Amino acid sequence: MDVPLLDLKVQYSAIKAEVDAAVAEVFESQHFILGPKVAQCEKAIAEYSACSYAIGMSSGSDSLLACLMAENIGAGDEVITTPYTFFATAGAIARVGATPVFVDIDPKTYNLDPSQIPSKITKKTRAIIPVHLYGQMADMDAIMRIADGGGFVVIEDAAQAIGAVNKGRRAGSIGHYGCFSFFPSKNLGAAGDGGMVVTNDADRAEKLRCLRVHGSKPKYHHKVVGGNFRLDAVQAAVVLAKLPHLDDWTAARQRNADRYNQLFAEADLHVGLPDVVTDRHIFNQYVVRVADRDQLQTYLRENGVGTEVYYPVPMHMQDCFAYLGHKAGAFPESERAARETLALPIQPELAESQLQFVVRCIGDFLGKAVARKVAA
Ligand SMILES: Cc1ncc(COP(=O)(O)O)c(C=O)c1O
Repeated sequence: MDVPLLDLKVQYSAIKAEVDAAVAEVFESQHFILGPKVAQCEKAIAEYSACSYAIGMSSGSDSLLACLMAENIGAGDEVITTPYTFFATAGAIARVGATPVFVDIDPKTYNLDPSQIPSKITKKTRAIIPVHLYGQMADMDAIMRIADGGGFVVIEDAAQAIGAVNKGRRAGSIGHYGCFSFFPSKNLGAAGDGGMVVTNDADRAEKLRCLRVHGSKPKYHHKVVGGNFRLDAVQAAVVLAKLPHLDDWTAARQRNADRYNQLFAEADLHVGLPDVVTDRHIFNQYVVRVADRDQLQTYLRENGVGTEVYYPVPMHMQDCFAYLGHKAGAFPESERAARETLALPIQPELAESQLQFVVRCIGDFLGKAVARKVAA
């Protein structure tokens, strides 16, 4: 049996008519950059995220970058974030010339541990970027308390967490900015790169609208240097076509996660299961922990099960951040997570037989691992 990590063809075949019609409409209009589709998409995402404003951007990465630019964060400034994330989070901080300051994760949720933030605050601290990793929100109450106390800007990296909720509040709606990614593998994926920033602050929204068109306002008059961070209409149309399905897809991902948990328990398999501590985890990824992670990944691949390691190298161990001077062991929980975690297939369309197959393969592997250790 084949169980790919993610097969977007299955999703597309179920909603082909809607997506094709939405894309055809853009082609008929020949209005490809920004314009009415993007405005419609912004309105829909603002509503979905319980925010006043949404600004369509070229990607999740550029969304993070533009928020930092909007706050004039740059050389000499420090931005606190997690070392256990996709590169774009720390990359955006470095791209504006600021210094990423890392805080280790809570091993249960894989999200930044707020209790470790205070010791990293200096006179140079300007912002905090929590990441809602795998689709579960970071502890925003604690983070906002610290940020409010120090006057820091909070940019939620909600690239993996659109629709996640904690204590009744949506991902992206709590900090000063929330950044989403419409990368195709995200729960709400476009047909290429795309992203969006949400905010409840009119001035910040206006700044972002200006920054995404090279800082131009009015056209060809530039008071600030921005970039080409525009969302295109085809991506907006695809996102709009998919949005009405998102809650059903999220529910299916949650069902799959519950079913995995149940199957692992029934088979008495001791893998570290995701710890859900927030109201609505949207399971962009379902990640387990195992000691022999790399061997398990190889075994699953040989048996037709696709998996991925998110992420094998924490940010402080990346070559491009060697100048920060961190040594191995600096952020032990991030390093342990990078060694032990494995994302299993979780897409909404998985069949019961596929879930069972994945767990059976892991059981076979763990049985063999035990046998190997006994023989050694
Ligand atoms: C946590 C996180 N931040 C930022 C990004 C960047 O988003 P994009 O790929 O749309 O630039 C991603 C997505 O890949 C992500 O997972």
